[in-house]
Amino acid sequence: MPTGRLSVVVTRRLPEAVETRMKELFNVRLRDDDTPMTREELVDAVRQADVLVPTLTDDIDAGLLGQAGPQLKLIANYGAGVDHIDVSTARQRGILVSNTPGVLTDDTADMTMALILAVTRRIPEGLAVMQSDDWQGWSPTALLGGRVGGRRLGILGMGRIGQAVARRARAFGMQIHYHNRNPLREEIEDELEATYWESLDQMVARMDVISINCPHTPSTFHLMNARRLKLMKPEAVIVNTSRGEVIDENALTRMLRAGEIAGAGLDVYERGHSINPRLRELKNVVLLPHMGSATREGRMEMGEKVIINIKTFHDGHRPPDQVVPSML
Ligand code: DGY
Repeated sequence: MPTGRLSVVVTRRLPEAVETRMKELFNVRLRDDDTPMTREELVDAVRQADVLVPTLTDDIDAGLLGQAGPQLKLIANYGAGVDHIDVSTARQRGILVSNTPGVLTDDTADMTMALILAVTRRIPEGLAVMQSDDWQGWSPTALLGGRVGGRRLGILGMGRIGQAVARRARAFGMQIHYHNRNPLREEIEDELEATYWESLDQMVARMDVISINCPHTPSTFHLMNARRLKLMKPEAVIVNTSRGEVIDENALTRMLRAGEIAGAGLDVYERGHSINPRLRELKNVVLLPHMGSATREGRMEMGEKVIINIKTFHDGHRPPDQVVPSML
């Protein structure tokens, strides 16, 4: 690690205050426009930078890491998810990886609740009526949704965000169920009044709402595959604010179209921003453009975490949010 100012390359535009602080602290190369870097630009970045600050729209795979110069020592990701980074290869090459957990927990959990409510209470359909200027006034039978209170919520992945979803859903009167690699500590389970299901199949078959809150890893890819989606009750809905790859999007689309699943609220998609076009045609689906963590506060705090990870590393310590392959 150089003792002078670090050379830092940031792959995407970040909030202005974060960029300003980075300019004060580092010899930083910022992005001029709000587009992802091309592969050539990424190769150039890993050849020049001591520290790369990528985001989830960059593919930091083994091929790219193989072209990195020996000066690259840290990949300080702007974001919590690291499924776009080959963490094992980075480790083998002596490059540390850090992320920004914690600061986007509440925002993502808020958005999960927003999607649950939007789908079950048919909010986009109500919005469409108002926007079409076609509202004939209150009706006892129009746009009836389902009450969330009393419904069974099955949370797939009970980490920070899953637990934050559970806390909110409890306040809405939902019953909390979860599937996770391991059960929660008893005191947390008690606080959330949460029921652990060792068998994901059994949980999926009994829930009214499924919420995906696990990271995307090789073992969670298509965890909700066609077979498992078919276990859902036809009146159940599914929401996803984690990563699209956890659900087989084509199978989900087919089942939504066939009325085998009642609805879906999606903030993330299996193939980035290239969405199955049939999803857009469905009334029982609420689609958002990956905005779970999109608050001014969250995005600032993510930037602050990136800066702390870089500075701590430069000072000769382990970055506080270092990611190692065994965590994935
Ligand atoms: C993350 O940080 O990984 C989130 O998906 C960004 O919203």
